[in-house]
Amino acid sequence: MEIYKNPSYSPRERTIDLLSRMTIEEKVGQMCQVDGRHDPETWIYKKHIGSFLHVTGDEPARLQKMALETRLGIPILFGIDAIHGHAFQSGATVFPSQLGMSSSWNPELLEKVAAITACEVILTGLHWTFSPVLCIGRDARWGRVDETFGEDPYLIGVLAKAMIQGYQGSQLSDPYSILACAKHFAAYGETQGGRDSSESDVSERKLRSIFLPPFQEAVKAGCATFMTGYNAIDGIPCSANQWLLHDVLKEDWGFQGFVVTDWDNIGHLHEDHKVAATLEEACNIALTAGNDMMMSTPTFYEHALSLIEKGIISESLLDDACSRILELKFKLGLFDHKRFPDQGMASTILGCTEHRKAAYDMALESMVLLKNQNNILPLSKEIKKIALIGPNCDDVQAQLGDWSFGARELAYPEVPTLNYHPEYDPSPIVTILEGIKNRCPHQVQIAYEKGCDLLDENNHAIEEAVEAALASDAIITVVGDTNVLNGEMRDRVDLHLTGAQQKLLEALKATGKPLIIVLVNGKPLTIPWIAENADAILEAWNPGMEGGNGVASILFGDFNPCGKLTISFPRHVGQQPVFYNQLPGWHGNTYVEMTGEPLFPFGFGLSYTQYEYSNLVVSSSSLGVNDHLTVSVDVQNTGKYEGTEIVQLYINDIFSSVTTPIKELKGFQRIHLKPGEKAAVHITVPVASLGLVNRKCQYVVEPGTFEIMVGPSSRDTDLLKTIFEVVS
Ligand code: NOJ
Repeated sequence: MEIYKNPSYSPRERTIDLLSRMTIEEKVGQMCQVDGRHDPETWIYKKHIGSFLHVTGDEPARLQKMALETRLGIPILFGIDAIHGHAFQSGATVFPSQLGMSSSWNPELLEKVAAITACEVILTGLHWTFSPVLCIGRDARWGRVDETFGEDPYLIGVLAKAMIQGYQGSQLSDPYSILACAKHFAAYGETQGGRDSSESDVSERKLRSIFLPPFQEAVKAGCATFMTGYNAIDGIPCSANQWLLHDVLKEDWGFQGFVVTDWDNIGHLHEDHKVAATLEEACNIALTAGNDMMMSTPTFYEHALSLIEKGIISESLLDDACSRILELKFKLGLFDHKRFPDQGMASTILGCTEHRKAAYDMALESMVLLKNQNNILPLSKEIKKIALIGPNCDDVQAQLGDWSFGARELAYPEVPTLNYHPEYDPSPIVTILEGIKNRCPHQVQIAYEKGCDLLDENNHAIEEAVEAALASDAIITVVGDTNVLNGEMRDRVDLHLTGAQQKLLEALKATGKPLIIVLVNGKPLTIPWIAENADAILEAWNPGMEGGNGVASILFGDFNPCGKLTISFPRHVGQQPVFYNQLPGWHGNTYVEMTGEPLFPFGFGLSYTQYEYSNLVVSSSSLGVNDHLTVSVDVQNTGKYEGTEIVQLYINDIFSSVTTPIKELKGFQRIHLKPGEKAAVHITVPVASLGLVNRKCQYVVEPGTFEIMVGPSSRDTDLLKTIFEVVS
């Protein structure tokens, strides 16, 4: 009896049965993943491939049919970078970048975004997203900061859990569940000088204190897969790190899923890291280290077979990797009900009104108000003429951000497409220019001028922009960065505004008109001039397909902004890294030229209303390690608008056996308050979460006094403080 074909057996029983029927070649094939440019006939019929990535349109169905015709009929697992929406696919819903979404501090909304993405992915015949990114984004020079949840390990863990739940649903066999992938394991964002894919010089203690905790949360949330980083840690490339992949992830944390390498990590062991003299040796290292699926190293197939034949690796290594992959295929329902795309449903569901509404909600919640002098925002009814100026007013690429190749094609139909499929409704992307034009009351006039190119400083029309500004009551300027300044292999040495943007802003300022600046950018930029000279600043990040409507709703006062920064803004690139949870120093946090303080700190974000914090109390003045601490504070909305405030709880272990950060986020809560309303906010944290990693690299909670800090941001002057004791 073919147990593996029978859904009444458990995924484990089916896996054991299937594995017992497989040849060595079939096992090695399951461990291979290549992209859609490779010949499917060879890979499916001759090499028994387990997974393809970046295959869209009609291809998944065609390739799946081929796979089902093979001897054992093992279905293919299709992977895709659906990072902030299924945005490789034209017509799909595109949400703000991950960094943007993190500024919402809203796990429920993130879960919804991920569930929508999963639904759109599965309808197009794919099953696995390479998301979420759990790298710590603390050096903004690094090209991939836009892909992170920011700089705080605790917040990253909370948001990771929400996204994983959204992608994977309550169980993988649910009709719209897909596999999530926690990446890039580990410390990939911490490479020196922000240089992508080089060495992260972190100790085991640092790894365990800062970089591993979000990944451990991902395991606890049941994340199905992990992807190894491009980087090396202390001389060992992540894909060669047996301690990291096997001892920590699989043994200590009990991770049951499978590990995929990043793109040709095996090739890089030989060609770039140079820790293997041959590709075959690199394959051996990667296999032994604990990688289960090899992304984009096509020669792995031949090398692995040769390693087996020479007796260098044992078949049991293949069995372990293969079982992990196959069991997830069974759990997901790939052998049963979830094999093929549903093009009919996809054409109505992708980018549908309900999904766009979530993109709009997320755009609203991800925006951060950084300045609002004299309450110039929301725009007053007195303003009748607006000069809308700047290179990012009407730029689809900058607005959607990285990993949105499919969606972008809609805006550039003349460009040859990768995967444009007219059967899916080409949902329009609302740029800021369009959003403002749509929302603006009919008696208000909009004069739009691009003003300058974002990159070429000689290509500008500043005079025309100034003319429009002079004829206006207020200027809204949309500046920032764009895709060529963000992403893989796009690290920056400077974080200033590029092209003639600064010149444009200075000319606009000289008109004397109120200057409202909207930033559309992938990462923090060094903008001290803007902080000083703008009347208002709205950080919109890469706000996705509904970004234009979101910006307009905030500027015209339909929505009171509530986002808070999850990454600190430096004043100067030389301050990098300027993250809030620094270790203590004793020569003052200052440079010769300027302070070491960020321009805008982690947790910071204004509102159209004001909140007053008072009456900070702890549930007990001393507690044991197994207890829970409840911190209470009163928050009152003392302004004119109703709004949502994100109340943040930080701690500091005052005296400890090793240095600990000056403050660390341990909890937060969102509250919605009407004007004048006051609420008591209670945040409960397990005392066990207040620990540190000691000299022996063990996680311990050390008895002693802890400072408790609560407030609207991580800035010291924003925080109410008290203390409590941990007793042994
Ligand atoms: C390389 C990137 O580092 C990773 O994040 C991505 O998921 C894979 N390529 C697949 O595109």
